[in-house]
Amino acid sequence: MPTSAQEVQARIAALGPWFYEFDLGVHGRTASVLPPGVLPIHQTRLEMVSRVVDGHFGDRLPKIRCIDVGCHEGYYSVAMARKGVREVRGIDLRESNLVKARFVAEVLGLRNVVYEQGNCEDLPADDIGQYELCLFLGLLYHLENPMLCLRKICRVTSELCVIETQVIDEVDGVAEWGAREWTRPYHGVLALIDESGEFYHENPETGASPLATCPSPNALRFMLEQAGFRRVEFVEAPPGAYEQHRRGKRVVCAAYK
Ligand SMILES: C[S@@+](CC[C@H](N)C(=O)[O-])C[C@H]1O[C@@H](n2cnc3c(N)ncnc32)[C@H](O)[C@@H]1O
Repeated sequence: MPTSAQEVQARIAALGPWFYEFDLGVHGRTASVLPPGVLPIHQTRLEMVSRVVDGHFGDRLPKIRCIDVGCHEGYYSVAMARKGVREVRGIDLRESNLVKARFVAEVLGLRNVVYEQGNCEDLPADDIGQYELCLFLGLLYHLENPMLCLRKICRVTSELCVIETQVIDEVDGVAEWGAREWTRPYHGVLALIDESGEFYHENPETGASPLATCPSPNALRFMLEQAGFRRVEFVEAPPGAYEQHRRGKRVVCAAYK
């Protein structure tokens, strides 16, 4: 554990660049690589996530466990731990992100957070169990197998999963299904996105492969229901929200078991 402010500063510099701005109190803070216009995205997301989590769990927070899938540097894991959630487990594909997450938790003296390397395609790991709260933020639209992952996520969630994702514009229509007059309606659509530029440049925010998919709002709802969630609600963006949430290009969904 680095003890002096200088030691912490040296570690912050050595571990950088940072994706999030962490306030480490007397030890200083990390500076985010995000442009100033994009940085407010995290405040909006946290506000939206907190509204759902507080509304659902209320004073049960100290009794619940949370799994944060695709936790990156642990920004939302730390927020849940500080909120009083009993135990938080952050999972991320990239050890390089987790090294930073562990450092932040250590400096903040958080004892109720653990981080582990893992792929959401492989959840649940044998001994992982179920979590009352699952965070699945900013990850769905980096995945090439979204349905597989949502099924896995549903299995590790016992009460509430909060999903935040980019969405594409809705596409309505019907598909012919064996004959001109036999048709099936679309339940939303998935766009195929080439993330190879970011992937091969080892961008720490991308998925496990260069092919990404991005759902329309109806597809997101339908996939969550197919994965096994009983009720799915879109969370309203708060006044002054980050512009993408305000325009509905990014959404937060509460999926209940
Ligand atoms: C865009 S970042 C989002 C981070 C954070 N959840 C947030 O909302 O700010 C995506 C994160 O998911 C991780 N990730 C990507 N694919 C993953 C996978 N298949 N399994 C687990 N983590 C993954 C990345 O390493 C990265 O940390």
